[in-house]
Amino acid sequence: MSVSPIRLIRHRHGARRLRWWPGQLRQLQALLDGHSFWARERSAAQLRRMLAGSQAVVSAWRGDRLVGFGRASSDGIFRAVLWDVVVAGDEQGQGLGRRLVETLLTDPALVGVERIYLMTTNSAGFYTQLGFEPGGTQKLMVRRQQ
Ligand SMILES: CC(C)(COP(=O)(O)OP(=O)(O)OC[C@H]1O[C@@H](n2cnc3c(N)ncnc32)[C@H](O)[C@@H]1OP(=O)(O)O)[C@@H](O)C(=O)NCCC(=O)NCCS
Repeated sequence: MSVSPIRLIRHRHGARRLRWWPGQLRQLQALLDGHSFWARERSAAQLRRMLAGSQAVVSAWRGDRLVGFGRASSDGIFRAVLWDVVVAGDEQGQGLGRRLVETLLTDPALVGVERIYLMTTNSAGFYTQLGFEPGGTQKLMVRRQQ
């Protein structure tokens, strides 16, 4: 049986055509629940709002199966932040994570932006290969709400 190739989709901000169906949203929930520690137990309603509020969103599909995801927020000129880059366990180590990040970095919402940030606990080496470097003396400050 032939294996279908991986298809990457750029979800254009506000594009109706690329809205997520309920079944696809459930797959996104499962991907984040299964492969992240920071994005677990997000409800479908919360994910919808998250997607609508992200200026760049990319998903990767093998057939009907969601195998990768990433998103970014951006002001379009000075600052952008990558969020929730995740690859399904059985698809890791084959270049998909790199393709997801490269797709985000070449999104019109991020091209030309002065600085692109991200936070990572275990994957700094992955992002180093993609041109990111440690933030130096800058401190990450967090206000936890809810
Ligand atoms: C981090 C993650 C997205 C990488 O995706 P992936 O598809 O496995 O990565 P790729 O195959 O594209 O790897 C690209 C390169 O980065 C390296 N790499 C991948 N994960 C790495 C890690 N955690 N630390 C250091 N290097 C890493 C790979 O070895 C590869 O190097 P090569 O080109 O020399 O072979 C994936 O492992 C994942 O989803 N992890 C769980 C969620 C997570 O931690 N996401 C990051 C949130 S900040």
